[in-house]
Amino acid sequence: MTSDDRRSLGPGRRATDWNPHPPAGAAGCRVVDLPRITDPRGNLTAIEGGSEVPFDIARVYYLYDVPGGESRGGHAHRELEQLIVAASGSFDVVVDDGTETARFHLNRSYHGLYLPRLTWRELGNFSSGSVCLVLASQPYSEDDYYRDYGDFAAARRTAEAAGQVPAGRVPAGSGA
Ligand code: TYD
Repeated sequence: MTSDDRRSLGPGRRATDWNPHPPAGAAGCRVVDLPRITDPRGNLTAIEGGSEVPFDIARVYYLYDVPGGESRGGHAHRELEQLIVAASGSFDVVVDDGTETARFHLNRSYHGLYLPRLTWRELGNFSSGSVCLVLASQPYSEDDYYRDYGDFAAARRTAEAAGQVPAGRVPAGSGA
């Protein structure tokens, strides 16, 4: 059964597709298809930590009422892993592993962009009324942030040299 077959399943059928698209790059950023319970009354997606996402969910937050032309992000995290979902509308996420960048256009509420630790991200091009839902592996901690790109890039190189993260290369092309 292909992912397209799964997408066309009828009402009440559970559709799950773990095939990432595009294939995960060395940096580990990837779009995953989330389960969908399709229903004529409206579709439903449920996300469970350790199942639909590769970490236990410690925190959920969301961005909304983002004015046109604004951007968010502009930081990386020391340890935090995240899954970003366009719960409504669309926006772009530009990821940077310190070596390369890739732009993901998220516009489906059943797609999640997984970001591993030590990934610089910028969010922009928000459509009107869009909602950016984020599932995070840890509670909020300002100490976990790199807000200076140079500090992030140096930490990334150190982690790569220590074999803690893959050598930098993000997947080419966009998801969604
Ligand atoms: P931040 O993650 O810096 O967002 P952006 O990079 O898009 O500006 O968060 C903005 C502010 O919100 C910052 O002062 C910290 C606060 N915040 C929390 O208190 N809890 C949270 O879970 C998050 C994500 C942010």
